[in-house]
Amino acid sequence: MTHKPLVFITGASSGIGQALAARYHRAGYRLALCARRGPQMQEWAQSLHLPATDYAVYPADVADTNSIVAAAQACMASQGLPDVVIANAGISLGIDSAYREDLDAMAQVFATNNLGLAATFHPFIDAMRTRGRGRLVGIASVAGIRGLPGHAAYCASKAAVIAYCESLRGELRASGVQVITIAPGYIDTPLTRKNRYPMPFLMPADVFADKAFASITAGTRYRVIPWQMGWVARLMRLIPDALWDRILAGQPRKHRAGAAPSGPQQP
Ligand SMILES: NC(=O)c1ccc[n+]([C@@H]2O[C@H](COP(=O)([O-])OP(=O)(O)OC[C@H]3O[C@@H](n4cnc5c(N)ncnc54)[C@H](OP(=O)(O)O)[C@@H]3O)[C@@H](O)[C@H]2O)c1
Repeated sequence: MTHKPLVFITGASSGIGQALAARYHRAGYRLALCARRGPQMQEWAQSLHLPATDYAVYPADVADTNSIVAAAQACMASQGLPDVVIANAGISLGIDSAYREDLDAMAQVFATNNLGLAATFHPFIDAMRTRGRGRLVGIASVAGIRGLPGHAAYCASKAAVIAYCESLRGELRASGVQVITIAPGYIDTPLTRKNRYPMPFLMPADVFADKAFASITAGTRYRVIPWQMGWVARLMRLIPDALWDRILAGQPRKHRAGAAPSGPQQP
């Protein structure tokens, strides 16, 4: 039986999740990689020549509770109880609530970003509580601090991630299980690469992963990365509603998912 620690990461087939997997591997962790695209994760692990004992791939859809719960149970059965669980899988879809079909897009965002996050943590909670140790990490976003035009579904989902993790932290405080919220600013991944507007303090995914790893290891409750966006987020919280409305007035909105962009968009 190996004594290497274990990390379970959702959204490990791309971007932030893949960068976190690389960072945890460098730190000596075994990897439990989860996303819908299994072959992607397998190829990535093989490209790094990871020994078979150091990783396992669990193809699953976090928006389907049975699918992600089964993946988590398979991980515990074959690799053991993780030390760290990172609920990172997420999607961003622009919506306009005046369109009936955009309510379905909103449901998809909430199913992935919110229920998917809770369902990722769920199978591990009792076992971690019994062990008296563990870290549950939720990947939120600076977009969860205030609403942005066209971004209602994503902003609301990420605000919910922040509030959900804070609630769970309170529930688990006495158990020894830590709940950590990481709110990224702009990180260079396939998600942001399609943006055609300025992204202040844009950070490479591997640099983000270094900083997130340090925060998670230190048990920091809530951290915005990069730090400059932390100050932006603090300021955004302090701005009175009337002023925020004025700042947003006339700003372009994020285009609807599937609709052609009509100009620069919000993140
Ligand atoms: N990049 C940024 O600037 C930024 C900023 C703030 C917050 N974030 C958050 O960071 C997280 C990762 O984003 P990213 O930038 O790395 O995006 P990305 O490159 O698009 O990666 C998203 C990951 O989520 C997985 N995923 C999506 N839906 C899924 C589902 N239903 N079931 C399982 N896995 C699913 C995808 O894998 P499959 O397609 O293989 O399933 C992929 O691995 C997201 O929660 C995002 O909201 C990113």
